[in-house]
Amino acid sequence: MTKYTLPDLPYDYSALEPVISGEIMQLHYTKHHGGYVNNLNAALEKYHEAEAKNDIATMIELQQAIKFNGGGHVNHSVFWTNLAPVGKGGGGAPSGELAHALQAKFGSVEQFVEKLSNAAIAIQGSGWGWLGMCKGSKNLCIKTCANQDPLSTQNAVPLLGIDVWEHAYYLQYKNVRAEYVKNIWKVVNWKNVEERYAHAKK
Ligand SMILES: [Fe+2]
Repeated sequence: MTKYTLPDLPYDYSALEPVISGEIMQLHYTKHHGGYVNNLNAALEKYHEAEAKNDIATMIELQQAIKFNGGGHVNHSVFWTNLAPVGKGGGGAPSGELAHALQAKFGSVEQFVEKLSNAAIAIQGSGWGWLGMCKGSKNLCIKTCANQDPLSTQNAVPLLGIDVWEHAYYLQYKNVRAEYVKNIWKVVNWKNVEERYAHAKK
């Protein structure tokens, strides 16, 4: 059976400072993402045991844990690569086809940033704001997901995610989610978003 593992973080814990503190990054990556990976593996192991016994009731019971922890693993695996240290891939502006598509869909990159920021800030409770590509139309879209629901549950491919769980910002930004969302654009790795867009369009 496949055991899921934490992907390597592509930079040091403190590399996103001052936008995201090293303490947040270390806890977020090792404890939160690490927890989703461990809980996903445990749920899948139980699922396979239940499957071997044709225990459909237990299999159904485990689906929520698989969705939550599997979603947490999928979402964070995208999120870490969406970010990069300031001046070392982080910040600036998108280019190429992604920039054109953002302009076509949202009027300008600035208007897109404002729309996704507002959507993420407005999420009630824990969740994610996403730039995605809708699978059917191949259009760019802004979506929000509650908890750890992955964007695939809304028929879209994730390109750029903003984690607005309190664990992502509270130690540094306290209750001011809007300040965290405003600052996160300084560490967005546009090259990664552009690569995800090019791959999704194929
Ligand atoms: Fe998170």
